[in-house]
Amino acid sequence: MPSLKEILDTTLKGIFTEAGFDTRYAEAVVSARPDLADYQCNAAMPLGKAMGKNPREVGQAIADKLAGVDGLEKVELAGPGFINIRFSDAYLSQAANTLMTDSRQGCATPKKKRKTVVDYGGPNIAKEMHVGHLRAAIIGESVKRVRAFGGDEAVGDVHFGDWGTPMGMLIAQLQQEHPDLPYFSTVPQNAYPDEPPMDIEELGALYRRAAARFKTEPDMQDAARQATFELQQGRPGYMALWKHFKDVSVTAVKRNYDRMGIHFELWLGESDVNDRLAPMVEDLKARGIAVESDGATVVPLDDGTSNKPQPPLILQKSDGAYTYAATDLATIAQRVEELHADTILYVVDKRQSQHFEQVFTVARKAGIAPEGLEITHVGFGTINGADGKPFKTRDGGVMRLEDLLTTANGKARENLPDTTPENATEVEKLAEQISVAAIKFQDMKGNRESDYVFDTEAFAKFEGKTGPYLQYAIARTNALLRRADTEGAALADVTITTPEERELVLGLLRFPEAVERAYTKCEPSELSAHAFELGQKFSRFYTECPIMAERDRALRGSRLSLTKLVGNQQRLCLDLLGIEAPERMLTREREAEKEPEAAAIGGR
Ligand code: ARG
Repeated sequence: MPSLKEILDTTLKGIFTEAGFDTRYAEAVVSARPDLADYQCNAAMPLGKAMGKNPREVGQAIADKLAGVDGLEKVELAGPGFINIRFSDAYLSQAANTLMTDSRQGCATPKKKRKTVVDYGGPNIAKEMHVGHLRAAIIGESVKRVRAFGGDEAVGDVHFGDWGTPMGMLIAQLQQEHPDLPYFSTVPQNAYPDEPPMDIEELGALYRRAAARFKTEPDMQDAARQATFELQQGRPGYMALWKHFKDVSVTAVKRNYDRMGIHFELWLGESDVNDRLAPMVEDLKARGIAVESDGATVVPLDDGTSNKPQPPLILQKSDGAYTYAATDLATIAQRVEELHADTILYVVDKRQSQHFEQVFTVARKAGIAPEGLEITHVGFGTINGADGKPFKTRDGGVMRLEDLLTTANGKARENLPDTTPENATEVEKLAEQISVAAIKFQDMKGNRESDYVFDTEAFAKFEGKTGPYLQYAIARTNALLRRADTEGAALADVTITTPEERELVLGLLRFPEAVERAYTKCEPSELSAHAFELGQKFSRFYTECPIMAERDRALRGSRLSLTKLVGNQQRLCLDLLGIEAPERMLTREREAEKEPEAAAIGGR
């Protein structure tokens, strides 16, 4: 079934074509005055202007045609020429009924399939994951799910940071501390140890020591650069050691991602394009796209059209090491040639926007990105602490992802019953599901490009605009339906009888519009906003309309159906956000089953 908006847009297009109006304006938008209309069409003003006619006259002509359309109850002209449109209750009820058996909740069956690579990991070897990596993972997972739901063949790539100077820094540091290790022998060994020489904590500490020296000691800088270069040339001992670094890091990173319910189809990294780097740079040089500059190889980007000089893109530094830009460029080629990508989405901190702009420009210019390839940087803002500065731990260190999860878990437990031998497994699992939902929802609550302040108090509460609130609302629908089941109350066709029911149905029917916006804008907050608004509409319905207490069986059945629809749609919506919906939420849910319905969820 087409969505309400699609129905109106198509109808308007027909009317406009027939009347000879510019169909560009044939569009309905959600009404700014829900008390007057469901949707409105604002075409009369621009059309009137373009045709030199009175907008009200144009509006009236459109409204007259619309008035005869099936399912519309009221079409009115307001103000300078706004066309207010209201669907009939019967039509909306009928539309809600079709959702009962629709696993896509009104979203059209997708047609066009694009191969889409979502690059949303970016953790780096040896550096522990912190909250900065959190947003990429959370937003990216949702972007990927929404793309897949929209019909794309979407795959996520973790794109590990495993190949730059930090690798050389680690090697040089370890060599200074333990020169006797076999990896450093200038004579290649037959075999290197199977076991890594360190665990993730030690690797992190090694990196911090390396980074400290790298900042101030020229000798260390030289050693690190030389080691990076030799690693990239494939020196066997270094390769063996690097492999250990990578394994240890991947294990640690996977543990974090798993806990968050984030899964990558591809575990590739910068190193996977190593073989492409030299030929690519040679080719770019041969074609005059890249040039030598002070011993480095760069692509000049200043074409003189901007008044600010544009810095060149550096591909290879004078010490021979390839840059982050070079690996990103080669990765585009890899994704096009090996993965047959039609779309590449980079879910990366917006502070890297210049980097991506440059890389994309060069990719287009060099033909690495073919014409049909859609390539987009899906940028996001930073997470700040209450002081407005990047989010830190109490003692001022970077907030490790693991610590954040532990804190959130503690908060979630405050709302849960104490564990007993009987409930322990469920409570543990719930605490994890609730805390992850709390973190994720908070991260996708606002527009992705905005910075936001991490709220360490409210984010895990069961009320307000939070993940747990939505999980709780779903659990409540489950509880109600279980109760109906036990008491033998049957579901029936949806019939709108009150304003709250009408609002709720309208909300349900607007889901496809939210999904569409989330898809095209790569914006999970469209879905979090929809879920929250629907939750509020459900609360009002629940407070105002008796369900189990309703005597009229048909009406009770209709309200149970609405309850079921809300549960189904919220579950799907949360799933697209990458958030799990537990069947029940221990503490509160018991109340729900006992309490007279009306009081329980009201007001939230
Ligand atoms: N490893 C990078 C960082 O930590 C992020 C990688 C993002 N993806 C990309 N293709 N550049 O900053």
